[in-house]
Amino acid sequence: MYDRYGPPDVLRLEDVERPVPKEDEVLVKIRATAVTRADCATREANRRSGLAVSLISRSISGIRRPKQRILGSELAGEVEAVGAAVNEFAVGDHVFGTSGFMFGAHAEFICLRESARIAHMPVGMSFEEAASVCDGGLNALWCLRGAGLRKGQRILIYGASGAIGTAAVQLAKYFGADVSAVCSTKNLELVRSLGADRVIDHTQEDFTKNGQTYDVIFDAVGKHSFARSSGSLNPGGSYLATDGFRNLLLALWTSRFGDKKVVFSIPPRYTKQDVRFLKELIEAGKYRAVIDRCYPLEDVVEATRYVETEQKTGNVVLTIDGGRGR
Ligand SMILES: NC(=O)c1ccc[n+]([C@@H]2O[C@H](COP(=O)([O-])OP(=O)(O)OC[C@H]3O[C@@H](n4cnc5c(N)ncnc54)[C@H](OP(=O)(O)O)[C@@H]3O)[C@@H](O)[C@H]2O)c1
Repeated sequence: MYDRYGPPDVLRLEDVERPVPKEDEVLVKIRATAVTRADCATREANRRSGLAVSLISRSISGIRRPKQRILGSELAGEVEAVGAAVNEFAVGDHVFGTSGFMFGAHAEFICLRESARIAHMPVGMSFEEAASVCDGGLNALWCLRGAGLRKGQRILIYGASGAIGTAAVQLAKYFGADVSAVCSTKNLELVRSLGADRVIDHTQEDFTKNGQTYDVIFDAVGKHSFARSSGSLNPGGSYLATDGFRNLLLALWTSRFGDKKVVFSIPPRYTKQDVRFLKELIEAGKYRAVIDRCYPLEDVVEATRYVETEQKTGNVVLTIDGGRGR
């Protein structure tokens, strides 16, 4: 729980009433969840992104203090109870998904509508892995669809080792693109193993200076810019953004002027169908979750501090009650 915006140590453990599912809801006993960059940004009311973004953030999550006092949007767990009108899920089913900006998943239990972005867990997946699918997976899917990525197109993914980046590499390969991925030395092998056609170490080489050009440049970690990378875009190419207020303005501007576009459509609109799509890819062996570290829920402050280093590889998981079951 947290009662005020601030650094990671505003988070604390507290016992609350177990929620009771309404007619169309399932009660999920959460076995694993994740600490995401969205949790961190919301907890500190997007202070690092400047006053304008911070005010927008507060207008959504509570002007003076957070309205939803439990963070966490990613979840994997077991259905504990169902409302009378629920057909898709039964008690004991293993489910995974996201509560999105409703949050509430850093908890032992959560109630979600049957129609929410949840699905049965992929066969053979652990709770930890399942809790690491949707944050990067849904975001990368949303962005790649926004750019209309097609078979045979050349894409460069900057920040290929993060939650969104590791998902983007795998999804871009699935969509038939030629994938160049940028990360640091320690993550080269991982990113290659996810299917990248070539990997560029940003500590050794600046991709904007090697003469290569791309149809899409996906800044999956919000650390590059349209200005710096537009020389590496083919005519008609798209720069995909995941962060940064300036990219909103650039998306508006480039939609009217110039032939290279900034694509940044927020808020993302994820669907239940998207969660099912990721489940099918996992079961077909075409997508896997990348986990950096697992912490017990009790260590949420430490886990959050690690996520805020902005150096995680893939996802950081919180386990509840051990969480290791399949
Ligand atoms: N639009 C949305 O709805 C939405 C939702 C969630 C997150 N986000 C944003 O999306 C971005 C990515 O989130 P994420 O969770 O995928 O990131 P992440 O997992 O925290 O990314 C971490 C990785 O990024 C790389 N990195 C860190 N600093 C870098 C730098 N200065 N230059 C190049 N690479 C750097 C590091 O890999 P290497 O060591 O391999 O370089 C690190 O392992 C964040 O800005 C986040 O705020 C947006």
